[in-house]
Amino acid sequence: MTSSVVLFGATGDLARRMLWPSLYALDREGLLPQDVRLVGAALPKIDNQSFVTSVGEAIRQSANAALFDESGFAAFAKRIQYVSVDASAKSGLDPLRTALGGAIGTIFYLATGPKLVAPLCAALKEAGLADAASRVVIEKPIGSDAASAARINEAIAGTFAEDQVFRIDHYLGKEAVQNLVALRFANAIYEPLWNKNAIEQVEITVAETVGVDGRWAFYNEAGALRDMVQSHLLQLLCLVAMEPPASFTPSAVRNEKVKVLWSLRPIGAKEVATHTARGQYEGYLKEEGASATSETETFVAIRAEIDNWRWAGVPFHLKTGKRLAERSSEIVIRFKSAPFNIFADIGASLAQNTLLIKLQPEERITMTLMHKEPGLNEFALDEVGLDLSVSDAFPKGRRRIAYERMLLDVFRNNSALFVRRDEVEAAWKWIDGIIAGWKTAGIKPKPYKAGTWGPRA
Ligand code: BG6
Repeated sequence: MTSSVVLFGATGDLARRMLWPSLYALDREGLLPQDVRLVGAALPKIDNQSFVTSVGEAIRQSANAALFDESGFAAFAKRIQYVSVDASAKSGLDPLRTALGGAIGTIFYLATGPKLVAPLCAALKEAGLADAASRVVIEKPIGSDAASAARINEAIAGTFAEDQVFRIDHYLGKEAVQNLVALRFANAIYEPLWNKNAIEQVEITVAETVGVDGRWAFYNEAGALRDMVQSHLLQLLCLVAMEPPASFTPSAVRNEKVKVLWSLRPIGAKEVATHTARGQYEGYLKEEGASATSETETFVAIRAEIDNWRWAGVPFHLKTGKRLAERSSEIVIRFKSAPFNIFADIGASLAQNTLLIKLQPEERITMTLMHKEPGLNEFALDEVGLDLSVSDAFPKGRRRIAYERMLLDVFRNNSALFVRRDEVEAAWKWIDGIIAGWKTAGIKPKPYKAGTWGPRA
């Protein structure tokens, strides 16, 4: 039974915006195990009271601000303890060992930069704080290519068995993303159509209006391909493309996802010019902390293909970027045209049916159909949508931070929504090919105006 959660990086941006507000929400709903303590660990030397105050402020400024109330927070604050640690120093975790007081089964959440993951895992082992009942939660990115990801995973495996490891991709905590599995496998009507016979192409778009948000140096090392496609877009692609899992257990689902990643057709130097587009928004080089030159992309589009029986020949268009025209994440399944148009003689053309799965900002599922225009005039057709607004269908639900779900699943020891080691490494392998291809073929990002849909290509 977990008695403590240790949050490394407790004063950092992710902890303030997402993790403390999510833990608070779980506590308010009675979902945090009763006696669990929340130990914030970070480098700054601050006293417990100032830390607790800063957690309260963070919650009030977060997406869960509406849940804040003084008495609720006072109860939550009793769980919190802050310790200043320096994992890089010898005996640097001693204050943490004292705070944990021999507790076993601790959950360690590493909300730190990727460079600290390996040293922290080693330090936890060295300090004797990790045991067979511990769990470790790791944030993305895991490495910056397949080799560095393998090194980090190896370092994690030095302290924790794979079933103790929870690698976060917060997109999997979003309701609409989890619903992809329900849509596909709790309904009988889609499966017969969900393949190359009926589907012409799939489009997966994650468009953001924000820029690099004060983290230029970090982002510039990564770019849109590493920051978004390696994780979020490929996870979405896996959920859309995977075979029906044998059951809804973590290993069954993850087995199917990794098979999709193995089937991605490599994109290398010969293909990058026709299968990818890179862009950089104008003004990127004037962001705070920017250097005068950078060849990092803030926009990427890829025509991916999955070499298996279900999807051979069906393009999956992946697209993501910053400072685009709208904040919008969606998946569009575009079906093939009707085989023959019996209305051609009367001048009616037929649009292709599409299934639009809108993930954010609003959650919506729309199936477009051709429909007869009502009335006595000539036979005319129009495209209309069968439209499901999730907030209308489930008006009682609160819009949750994805991390609420992720944290709760860590407590429940359910890793279905977390990324397994082989998935991470398979995704990087495909991404590495594209990056190497860009280098060999000399493909540089093309400029685009902020607030548009990216470069023309
Ligand atoms: C993060 C990326 O993983 O996801 C950010 O590092 C990006 O660059 C963010 O802005 C997008 O998440 P969401 O939930 O706002 O769509």
